[in-house]
Amino acid sequence: MEIKFDKANVLKEKPDQNNLGFGKYFTDHMFMMDYTEGVGWHDARIVPYGPIPMDPGSMVLHYAQETFEGLKAYRHQDGKVTLFRPYMNAARMNRSNDRLCMANIPEDMFVEAIDALLNVEQEWIPSVEETSLYIRPFMYATEVNVGVHAAKTYSFVIILSPVGAYYSEGVNPVKIWVEDEYVRAVKGGTGFAKCGGNYAASIIAQEKAESKGYTQVLWLDGVERKYVEEVGTMNVMFVIDGKVVTSPLQGSVLPGVTRDSIITLLKSWNVTVEERLLSIDELYKAARNGSLKEAFGTGTAAVISPIGQLCYKEEEIIINNFETGALTQKIYDTLTGIQWGNQEDVFNWNHEVK
Ligand code: COI
Repeated sequence: MEIKFDKANVLKEKPDQNNLGFGKYFTDHMFMMDYTEGVGWHDARIVPYGPIPMDPGSMVLHYAQETFEGLKAYRHQDGKVTLFRPYMNAARMNRSNDRLCMANIPEDMFVEAIDALLNVEQEWIPSVEETSLYIRPFMYATEVNVGVHAAKTYSFVIILSPVGAYYSEGVNPVKIWVEDEYVRAVKGGTGFAKCGGNYAASIIAQEKAESKGYTQVLWLDGVERKYVEEVGTMNVMFVIDGKVVTSPLQGSVLPGVTRDSIITLLKSWNVTVEERLLSIDELYKAARNGSLKEAFGTGTAAVISPIGQLCYKEEEIIINNFETGALTQKIYDTLTGIQWGNQEDVFNWNHEVK
């Protein structure tokens, strides 16, 4: 693909790597390209990071035809820069696009665009331990029309943000509110797709949880409000009786890249993984009889977020004395060890940016 480069005249001062937080700083450039039905993708360009002009009638502003992805670039000690399984993000973005009747992006083009932008922004990849460069590709309908239908034109943009931990707690246990009023997704809906609308609809529950002193919510299924599905913006796993239990991918749960990687790691360690429905009652019973040993959320942004406490219908349970469990820690160390190049990449997950 031919990518035009318009270099920024003034480069920004880089933020303190020890104090990055999550998603607050953006690099000097961004990638953009446009799609027109009948023509395909065109005008690939890397331009100075800045506002995107948009017609007020653009369909995304009215009917939310928007999808996004999240992945990270890591700087290894030998200077090598890698992405973690970027083709999984490319494939998922197209599944999200299919669900929202949006144009697809060839997977190679998706990865080539990220590689090209990273080549320009190499110096923005932080090197302090536990930091990375978060990559946010997103796509939206640009057709100017307020009738409800699939748009004929789209833009695809990639922005980059140097980040530290997603939660201020870092890899320390968080308190979780089990949400039994609002739901995140239903089968047949958009739960498996990474689209902005899912997150917009989730904010009310997050606000509710925060107002009660919890960091995030545990989502129950949208029909019976009975089975655990996700935690906040992450997949969720529970260690019960020595097995790891996580919700199956049946349409309402996001197929996480971290989720898939952890399942692969666990199986390689001969840990039994059950992808099955787990009711909140079964979970509480396991907590009461002592067989629930660990619980954690998994996602690209936070990697692993241990759950130390749950509150469901006024009943609080504490998990593993509100400490990060041994298996949780081992998964975190192994996964980030591979990502940061400190452990052998046995599954060939790292994609080197050249
Ligand atoms: C991720 O963990 O990858 C996410 O998508 C979280 C993001 C919404 C900040």
